[in-house]
Amino acid sequence: MARHRPDAADAAPPSSPPPPGTASDEVRHRFGPALVEWQRTHGRHRLPWQQTRDPYRVWLSEIMLQQTQVATVLGYYERFLQRFPDVATLAAAPLDEVLALWSGLGYYSRARNLHRCAQAVVAEHGGAFPASAAVLETLPGIGRSTAAAVAAFCFGERVAILDGNVKRVLTRLLGFEADLAQAAAERALWAQASALLPEHGIESYTQGLMDLGATVCLPRSPNCLLCPAAELCTARREGAPERYPVKTRRLKRGRREHWWLWLRHEDATWLVQRPDSGVWAGLFSLPEFDSREALDAATAALGAGRRVELPVVEHALTHFDWRLHPVRLELDEAPPPALLAALGPGGKGRWADAPRLAALGVPAPLRKLLLGDG
Ligand code: ADE
Repeated sequence: MARHRPDAADAAPPSSPPPPGTASDEVRHRFGPALVEWQRTHGRHRLPWQQTRDPYRVWLSEIMLQQTQVATVLGYYERFLQRFPDVATLAAAPLDEVLALWSGLGYYSRARNLHRCAQAVVAEHGGAFPASAAVLETLPGIGRSTAAAVAAFCFGERVAILDGNVKRVLTRLLGFEADLAQAAAERALWAQASALLPEHGIESYTQGLMDLGATVCLPRSPNCLLCPAAELCTARREGAPERYPVKTRRLKRGRREHWWLWLRHEDATWLVQRPDSGVWAGLFSLPEFDSREALDAATAALGAGRRVELPVVEHALTHFDWRLHPVRLELDEAPPPALLAALGPGGKGRWADAPRLAALGVPAPLRKLLLGDG
């Protein structure tokens, strides 16, 4: 009979490798503390939303920072807070004013949800943001990762974030090869993100993940020499960190082309409000046509004026590239309201001079065309 050898038979050998794409004990124990220490010495500390634990301010920054660079957000953040210093002021403001201050940040559904979320905080939570990720996530526009970021930064809750940058960092660290287009793979990565959380320093850890993703673990040329997790990183050991994250479903970009009618009378431009769904939903824009012929047909009855064809505006959106052909028509007489109403969707149009236009929610590329500013 074989002699019983407890060390060899009962315990897993200490060096047995973890399943692919999961954290070894060593990574689980060392990654968090290493990142916390790195963030404290090398991370970003002076960003305006880091100087507060006010959930309104932190939430606002997290929503603005989705799909938008820090450098772009800074100015918008300050202007927004000046006009809407707290959640009650934002909730009480007209949506058009919120959209106007958002103009240029893009992805306007964020602004619409921001406004709805402020109203929900006031109506359903007595004006105070809920203090846990689980409840924050029930609010409009707050996804799991944003809820976790706010809860970690403001309330010190030990919860995992997993935005696009963090997915890159963690898939590389773990050599996580499963296809993130599959829901099961995404769930598995969330589980790993939770398993990696350190016992202490959740605020620095959360910010550290963001900082590492934004400054070191870059999509195309990661600076592994500067990375506090280089020794622990599977992708680095394999020699090709850029190949993570793996995601098969590629966005197929489409193309669209439209003609814009820039109708002017005296100092004013005729603007129409876009429908409540689709691109630039609810923003003010120019009447839009599928072809030059359609624009010509619509303008034939408007009366005499000077017509100028302007250079094409090219605009890239998430799902398609848009070519817009602006045609400016300066009218001698204002057309009757019925003819103007026929130009736009639902007849919701208005004349706007430059100051009025600057105060309306107008998409950034159009604002640039109409006002000549960036
Ligand atoms: N991106 C998302 N959240 C951020 C934050 N808190 N600081 C810097 N960049 C971010």
